[in-house]
Amino acid sequence: MVKLGVNVDHVATVRQARKTDEPDPVVAAIMSELAGADGIVAHLRGDRRHIQDRDLLLLREVVRTHLNLEMAASEAMVKIALDLKPDMVTLVPEEPNEVTTEGGLNVLQSYQTLSETIPPLRDEGIVVSLFVDPDVNQIKAAAKLRADYVEIHTGLYAEAKDASEELAELEKIQDVAAVAAKLGFGVSAGHGLTYQNVRPIAEIKEVEELNIGHTIVSRAIMAGMEQAVREMISLIR
Ligand code: PXP
Repeated sequence: MVKLGVNVDHVATVRQARKTDEPDPVVAAIMSELAGADGIVAHLRGDRRHIQDRDLLLLREVVRTHLNLEMAASEAMVKIALDLKPDMVTLVPEEPNEVTTEGGLNVLQSYQTLSETIPPLRDEGIVVSLFVDPDVNQIKAAAKLRADYVEIHTGLYAEAKDASEELAELEKIQDVAAVAAKLGFGVSAGHGLTYQNVRPIAEIKEVEELNIGHTIVSRAIMAGMEQAVREMISLIR
C-alpha cells in the first residue's frame, strides 16, 4: 500500500505572505496525521521563504509518524539535520530564484558534495533519500553513494502538454523505479502531483511513498486539511 507524505511548506507560504503566525504548518501536520497521513515533509530552504527553523523544532516534537526534512546538501543544513534528527533527509538541489524545486539533483556533477553529505547523516541513523530526475544515468550514479532511497521527480510528468507526452514521462518513471529498486533503493516519488494525475504514479509497484504538498494545501483552503488528506489517501490506495 503506497504511503502518503504530506508536504506542509505551502501552509507556511501563506503565513509568510503576511509574516504573521497563521496558518501554522505544525497544526496542518497534526491534522494530516489525524486524517491518516503516513508522514510529514517540510523543506527548510536557505532563504527561509516558507518553513522556518521554529517550525522544524515543533514538527520534530509533535510528528508521531515520520518526519522527512527536505534540504540542500550544504554544511549549514547538515548541521541543522544532525541537531534535529528527522527520520529522513531528502537532499534536493536549491536555486535562489526558483519558484519551486525545478528538477532532481545532478548526481554526477554533485558527486563529491553528496559523498561528503550522506555519511554523517546516516551515521546518526537518519535515512537519506536523493531527489532525482527519471534518468537511468542519474540512478546509476546514485548507486555508488550510500543513500537509502531515491525520490523520483514527477514534475515533467505533471507538466506534460498532452496525453502522449504524459505517457512517455510515465514510462520513464516506471523504468527508473524498476532500475532503482533493482539497485537496492527504496523508491518514492513526488512533485507536481495532483488529485487528477496521481493515480498512474501510485500504481507503480516499486513506489512505496508519494510526497505531495501544493495540491493538498490548495484543496485544504477550500475543504479543510483533514478532508484534503483523506481524499488523497483514498485516491492513491
Ligand atoms: N518532493 C520534493 C523533493 C519537493 O521538493 C517537493 C516540493 O517541495 C515535493 C515533493 C512536493 O511537490 P508539490 O508541492 O508540487 O506536491
